[in-house]
Amino acid sequence: MASITIRNLDDETKQLLRERAARHGRSMEEEVRHMLRHATGAPASSATAEQPAIAAPPAGALSGKRILLVITGGIAAYKSLDLIRRLRERGAGVRPVMTEASKHFISTLAVGALAADRVFDDLFSREDEQDVGHIRLAREADLVLIAPASADFIGKMALGIANDLASTILLAASCPVLIAPAMNPSMWRHPAVRRNVETVRRDGVRLIGPMRGEMAESGEAGLGRMAEPLEIAAAAEALLDDGPKPLTGRRAIVTSGPTHEPIDPVRYIANRSSGKQGHAIAAALARLGADVTLISGPVAISDPGNVTTIQVESAREMLAAVEGQLPADIAVMVAAVADWRAAGQADEKIKKQPGEAPPPLLLTENPDILKTVGHHEKRPALVVGFAAETQNLEDNARAKLQRKGADWIVANDVSPDTGIMGGDHNRVRIVSQSGIEDWPRMDKQSVADRLALAIAKSFEDINASGS
Ligand code: CTP
Repeated sequence: MASITIRNLDDETKQLLRERAARHGRSMEEEVRHMLRHATGAPASSATAEQPAIAAPPAGALSGKRILLVITGGIAAYKSLDLIRRLRERGAGVRPVMTEASKHFISTLAVGALAADRVFDDLFSREDEQDVGHIRLAREADLVLIAPASADFIGKMALGIANDLASTILLAASCPVLIAPAMNPSMWRHPAVRRNVETVRRDGVRLIGPMRGEMAESGEAGLGRMAEPLEIAAAAEALLDDGPKPLTGRRAIVTSGPTHEPIDPVRYIANRSSGKQGHAIAAALARLGADVTLISGPVAISDPGNVTTIQVESAREMLAAVEGQLPADIAVMVAAVADWRAAGQADEKIKKQPGEAPPPLLLTENPDILKTVGHHEKRPALVVGFAAETQNLEDNARAKLQRKGADWIVANDVSPDTGIMGGDHNRVRIVSQSGIEDWPRMDKQSVADRLALAIAKSFEDINASGS
């Protein structure tokens, strides 16, 4: 091949060429040869082959999926480095995009090295706009994942503002978008953030988290921590899962977690439910294609990424949220709803009175959500309840089936020595009019998957019988 005289090029072109060659790890001459070969349509030699759009991923649950990871400014950005590893070890190709603010927290060098790709950060890069371009970045992704998603960035998404590469890509993206919000709890609670989160949800954006826990700022805790990398990777997997979808077109309501029943502004009645089983069931139904609304009491775990979550505190709020979601095809009431609440909530904190006996705690009955749904005029075709028992499991479960108008009761023994309440495993019996099925002890995820499959099967049977 004839030699190429770089020094005859003008300074600006030379500079652009130098940068481009450095990015591709080639000499300037090699870069020009590569460009010429590309322009004339000649096959690239293996040494200088065009870089694939996103580095070829190894096999795994996200195998072959291309994830555009947008890192926005927040201290949780340090977790994004681990997230890149988690996504890549599941087989995803990760193409990182960083906002200017994120670079105050982590370096482009670390992000690029872990992703095995260059970091995209400049909307006005002449080079990138010719070579890749924000439209191509958006189109080449199977998922846009924003982690951490700052309050500022969620606000931009809600308003459709496109003033940097990351926000511009979002307007051009037609693939699913998953965000992992991270901010101080007082910011997360702010009405402006609530509004913006609602808007992006309505636009079809999925959320994973935030979680409750300690903040980076010392002494601060609450709802606002970014979900852990493994949870984010699982939510990405759920969104990109292309397995069979027998529940497509079915709407499901799932309740989960405990309820908190206020006594006064600082005290409440609660129970030990973690929400793990209910959340897992909601996610499992969604994986089978159902359109799921999860109505959750206060829990310390993240909202699943593939469902719409409504957070409530008390039984009465939970009932209102459930009724607001009817009609639906499926209701799975997993929440450990408090049977009683304080009769009359004190407006002020109840004070100790020196020398006086403790105040009596008067209770009144809460509405029974399962029973209400089981007898509702808009009753779902399949109503599933849970029965948490410490004695006479089967008899009590059968009685609940009748009393509450449920089709199935998933009965579990929650005696303290079983470790089920709050733990990761469950051993259940499925009680229906046609008998009892005993399932072996398994983790709550597997119980959820098996229950979701049983639900899908029951709808197949309904379809087959033509009803
Ligand atoms: N449930 C409900 N609303 C209530 C109480 C319970 O929707 N106020 C639902 C639960 O979500 C679960 C089922 O009813 O699906 C059974 O809950 P469980 O606590 O086992 O039964 P209870 O009705 O509370 O009866 P008991 O406490 O006497 O066992």
